Amino acid sequence: LNYWAVVPAAGVGQRMGSACPKQYLSLLGKPILQHTLEKLLQTNVQGVVVSLAAEDNYWSQLPTLPRVWTAPGGTERSDSVRHALEKLLTFPEVKPNDWVLVHDAARPCVRVSDIQNLMQTVADYPIGGLLANPVRDTMKRADTQNCVTETVSRQQLWHALTPQMFRLQLLYDALTTAAIQGYPVTDESQAIELMGYSPVLVSSHPDNIKITHPDDLALAALFLQQQNN
Ligand code: CTP
Ligand code: MG
Repeated sequence: LNYWAVVPAAGVGQRMGSACPKQYLSLLGKPILQHTLEKLLQTNVQGVVVSLAAEDNYWSQLPTLPRVWTAPGGTERSDSVRHALEKLLTFPEVKPNDWVLVHDAARPCVRVSDIQNLMQTVADYPIGGLLANPVRDTMKRADTQNCVTETVSRQQLWHALTPQMFRLQLLYDALTTAAIQGYPVTDESQAIELMGYSPVLVSSHPDNIKITHPDDLALAALFLQQQNN
């Protein structure tokens, strides 16, 4: 069985508010997306499909990377992932039961060892799983006025991260079903859960942040530097 990767990179980065989409901002002298792809290419994935916005003017400035293809992005992240899976399914060597790892372009700090641990751990599960972090803080539910209505136990509560690893055809069918039903899914696991399955959570190093706000850039640079030392 082969492993493939999909990297949704078609977002506009509204919360970052930078001149170019955040995945192309430079981090330690390299675009964020390039860091991300180089991490995935250090594992034994056969190839990576990157979803890009139609109006993307920055991709062509990245160096040519081996085993990397592109697909058109979509309106939502889940649409971008679906398009990349469609591209993979046209490859003659891709089998429906192959594993696919979906990883956000905006998570360049993921550790190669964590990706490898996910691949090894999830291989023992029929459906798939995802990197995740146990919640650290005390959790509150609030009303619309931001007043606390409830303290939610953090036991068994996790942050869902990426990569998320599933069987290729199953993930494609799950995302297509969610799209047809108009059900908004914000990660792959949610689409799989809607099919009645229970993905396994695999602990990630907390380095694996999603670069979202401007403050995250300094933190990401620090994490990458620490990894290189
Ligand atoms: N993404 C995508 N297609 C979309 C929306 C998002 O491929 N239609 C990608 C982003 O490029 C990013 C990942 O999904 O790598 C996670 O999304 P997020 O962090 O929300 O990025 P943006 O949507 O670009 O940021 P924002 O929500 O602040 O606009
Ligand atoms: Mg977004």
